[in-house]
Amino acid sequence: MPSWPMNQWYVAAYSADIEAGLFARTICGEPLVFYRTAQGEVVALADRCVHRRYPLSLSHLEDDRVICGYHGFTYDQRGQCVAAPGQKRIPRTARVPAFTVVEQDSLVWVWIGDRDRADAELVPRAPWLDAAGYTTVRGMEPLKARYGLLVDNLLDLSHETYLHGGYIGTPEVAETPITTEVDEEANVVYVSRHMDDAECPPFYATSTGIECRITRWQDIEYHPPCLYLLHSRIAPAGVHPPEDGPDDEAFHVEVVYAITPETEHSTHDFWMVARDFALDDQGVSKFLSEQNRTVVLQDVAALDVLERVVESEKDDYQELSINIDTGGLAARRLLKKLVEAGTPEPSPVGST
Ligand SMILES: [Fe+2]
Repeated sequence: MPSWPMNQWYVAAYSADIEAGLFARTICGEPLVFYRTAQGEVVALADRCVHRRYPLSLSHLEDDRVICGYHGFTYDQRGQCVAAPGQKRIPRTARVPAFTVVEQDSLVWVWIGDRDRADAELVPRAPWLDAAGYTTVRGMEPLKARYGLLVDNLLDLSHETYLHGGYIGTPEVAETPITTEVDEEANVVYVSRHMDDAECPPFYATSTGIECRITRWQDIEYHPPCLYLLHSRIAPAGVHPPEDGPDDEAFHVEVVYAITPETEHSTHDFWMVARDFALDDQGVSKFLSEQNRTVVLQDVAALDVLERVVESEKDDYQELSINIDTGGLAARRLLKKLVEAGTPEPSPVGST
């Protein structure tokens, strides 16, 4: 049984990753090949020719069809083999699995599980990523650690003070208690930390130009298993959002992560930073991109180490959790529920 939930949507790539040609990526243990048709639709197929298993991603595209680079088996967008070398009759079983894809908010989502259960309405939204009024920088870092370690990391931002000091961490992050709420029905974990009088870390000081102390709000929404949203609000200390009307005096940064398992011990760490200020300022874009990548790489280095620690420990190791972990523990509980719900029922004994 995989450790990730089946029958779920996962981010496979950024829209811009899939243009001309074939794009390979393993998602939840499934080696997949992606391409974009002449009509602009994204196709996802199993990355393995049905004939001798050659990766289709090492093949080539012609008229929206993939022609295997080994023997020329040719597949259409549904994964059906439509041509094979040396014979007119194509075996009925000559097909590769096709995966359901939704492209939304500049992200390419793929459904991992039973194709009949894929519901595009259930893809969680991150509208800032390609909305007018926001500018986004982004990247993806490969993580050699299980996806659960990244979920733990992102749900507890008190680590910013220690792991990301000098970038986004200040003493107030670790000192300020959080509130945690869980919407069981919608399957969302909310974690909030509101700092009314905090040091402005370089990440925000340089990008916004604020030089004084700040109110800094971190409002997390985690939509298990894949999408993590951090609504970050920064304003000079003393400036609070108005009761009604636009929050014009604050700077808003929407930090988005997509946490996509690659294998049981590796993860695609997609990170995006959307801002509603300095929209055309290339210097701010460059700064935020470099800063956030550095911060992500600090996490990657720590989680890669943690993966080796977790792999080497005995099964009965008991970790300690405290108040800062309520978000992470809630996330683990929802993930466990999803893993159980997505696991196929065992066949009745004696059935064939
Ligand atoms: Fe971090």
